[in-house]
Amino acid sequence: MTASGLVFLREIPPEFPDFAHEQAEGIAAIHGAAAAEATLASMPPPGAPLDRTGVWCLGLEKGSRITGMAAAVLIGDVAQIDYLHLCAGWREPRYVALLLEGLLRVLGAGPRAIIHESVQYAPLPLEEAFTGHGFTVTERLLMAAPVEQVTAGAAAGVETEAFSGAHTAAAAALLARTYNGPERRFHPHLFAEGTAQALLERHWEETSRLGLHHLTRVAFDADGSARGLHLAQRLFPNTGHLNQLAVAPECRNQGLGATLVQEGAAAMLEAGLETATLGVTPANPARRLYERIGFEDLCPFWTCVCWRNPPDPAAL
Ligand SMILES: CC(C)(COP(=O)(O)OP(=O)(O)OC[C@H]1O[C@@H](n2cnc3c(N)ncnc32)[C@H](O)[C@@H]1OP(=O)(O)O)[C@@H](O)C(=O)NCCC(=O)NCCS
Repeated sequence: MTASGLVFLREIPPEFPDFAHEQAEGIAAIHGAAAAEATLASMPPPGAPLDRTGVWCLGLEKGSRITGMAAAVLIGDVAQIDYLHLCAGWREPRYVALLLEGLLRVLGAGPRAIIHESVQYAPLPLEEAFTGHGFTVTERLLMAAPVEQVTAGAAAGVETEAFSGAHTAAAAALLARTYNGPERRFHPHLFAEGTAQALLERHWEETSRLGLHHLTRVAFDADGSARGLHLAQRLFPNTGHLNQLAVAPECRNQGLGATLVQEGAAAMLEAGLETATLGVTPANPARRLYERIGFEDLCPFWTCVCWRNPPDPAAL
């Protein structure tokens, strides 16, 4: 099979629901039928427009059929690749590479970094194509725990607050400091302060709209600087997902990291969620922390992180 080429997609193609159903099967196996149903319900139907500002969506076309798609969205000056799908029979590195090359051409030299992060319920052969285009591919493990169990171990005495829009600058400074230190091994370019601010504003906008900003916990020093935080979101009707757990280097090993996760879980319990999930690289010592408070491995998934300076698009 050969692909005839790339096209700009202005709307969700008719082939997309097949992929959505396949994703839903994987989600049902891990998170239950309600989660799968909610995922299907939230997926845009064929014909839904894709031409929001800052989003480019490309399709891989064979005859009049779309056999794959991928989109790029800008968060600050970082481009995030989303909606990366290939139909059955087309899940080969060369087709991933074609979509990737198309997106890189469209993005040009604009973004400071490009990332792709996904839970692959229907596995795609991403690694070869991504590493072949200068990406660092990092395996991450998905861990899960019943929220009730995580909450049960909560330590007394450390104060955390529900995240609010007023916290974005202090939280961005902490993310920039934590994830740009010498020990960083993940998202090396995502957390420049301006980008972290854009990420947190987006997080605030999304979670406050759903009335779920209190799932995200932040701890402050007396002078108003952030000591620790994580970003939590509802992933499925019964599942909350924790991202970017960060504790300032001078505040570590005092139980703050565990408390932030436990208080996030307590807020999840209040919001009616049953399961908490998070992603972690296999070598991160934070795994010990998560295991201690009840998290177990679920399945592997891939995360790709890259470029400070995208190559010259003409050279692709
Ligand atoms: C992971 C992190 C939030 C833990 O914060 P903390 O306040 O020190 O956590 P706690 O005091 O509750 O628990 C300490 C545990 O962190 C883990 N840990 C220890 N050193 C660590 C390190 N250099 N990096 C990550 N985790 C570490 C260990 O499990 C440790 O407990 P243990 O040695 O008794 O098993 C903090 O180390 C951090 O911000 N690391 C950098 C960012 C990061 O890797 N975040 C996790 C992304 S999944």
